[in-house]
Amino acid sequence: MRIIDLRSDTVTVPDAAMRRCLAAAEVGDDVFGEDPTVLRLEALAAELTGKPKALFVTSGTQGNLVALLTHCARGEAALVGRDSHIHYYEGGGLAVLGGIMPYALDDSTGIPSPEAVEAQFLPANVHYAPRRLLCLENTHNRCGGLAVPPERFLAVTAAARNGGLSLHLDGARLFNACTRWAVAPTAYTAAVDSVQICLSKGLGAPAGSLLCGAAEFVNTARHWRKRLGGGLRQAGILAAAGLDALTRNRERLGQDHENAARLAQQLTAAGLRVEETPWRTNMVFFAPPADSVTAPTLVERCEAAGVRLLAMGPARLRAVLHLDVHAADVERAATVIAAALG
Ligand SMILES: Cc1ncc(COP(=O)(O)O)c(C=O)c1O
Repeated sequence: MRIIDLRSDTVTVPDAAMRRCLAAAEVGDDVFGEDPTVLRLEALAAELTGKPKALFVTSGTQGNLVALLTHCARGEAALVGRDSHIHYYEGGGLAVLGGIMPYALDDSTGIPSPEAVEAQFLPANVHYAPRRLLCLENTHNRCGGLAVPPERFLAVTAAARNGGLSLHLDGARLFNACTRWAVAPTAYTAAVDSVQICLSKGLGAPAGSLLCGAAEFVNTARHWRKRLGGGLRQAGILAAAGLDALTRNRERLGQDHENAARLAQQLTAAGLRVEETPWRTNMVFFAPPADSVTAPTLVERCEAAGVRLLAMGPARLRAVLHLDVHAADVERAATVIAAALG
């Protein structure tokens, strides 16, 4: 039985063409700055995000952490979304390793409001940790895989700038947001100081992220990456997959969004309570009908029928569409989920 794995877009495996790129990669010692494939990948990421420089890091979590450590000193504060990946899913790394105080803002719509950011502008005073940074996430994973429209995004970044904050964007799925709103990455990245993009989500590479920003920022970030043990040697093997992912798999993200929309329709028709949003990308969040099964039970039953889902709580599930889920899989997944209710 073919397994349809909808838990995350991180589950994709490299296809034959990507494996050929890995095998053929020209490599050198990247800690000495001598890996030509890493240098090519960093140059491409910098170009795509409109930033002077980029740094190849092992994961999205490492990219965000390196960014926070570069922007903030011990005892300084970062404003983060309450449901953001940085706040909810990264082990408190900013506090544990950076001594950075997180202030969590309501981001249930996918982004904090300008007013919530402005409310954090406090006078210099010994009582307060100095607010240094605002972190945004786009698309916003936990809030529904939401692509924040550029005008909303820019209203918040403008408010943050007025208060003298620096800005970091967790753009693990930035290209999904760009696909949804048909804009270039710079529609978002021009307004922030740093952006982290993931290669191993919808783009389908096995590992790696890029942290992009000004030259001085990236030089300091490189120092932090080394301290965190993220200096890899012949990293071109991985970077080759990243280059392939960025060139071959960006254009097709729209197919995942179409599949997500179809899955949402079919689940709604089957009586599941789908979280509706005009900002949807490649994720569908839903709940079983009231007074029916719990989310963990539904996960268990679907697993037995070859469809993997993620329970996000007792009554919330997530299905993520990606490279390894084909249009025909959507019908089968919806049928399996509907059958698992009864
Ligand atoms: C929005 C967001 N940021 C960051 C990350 C972290 O990426 P990684 O798993 O590569 O550490 C994820 C992972 O799912 C994510 O969804």
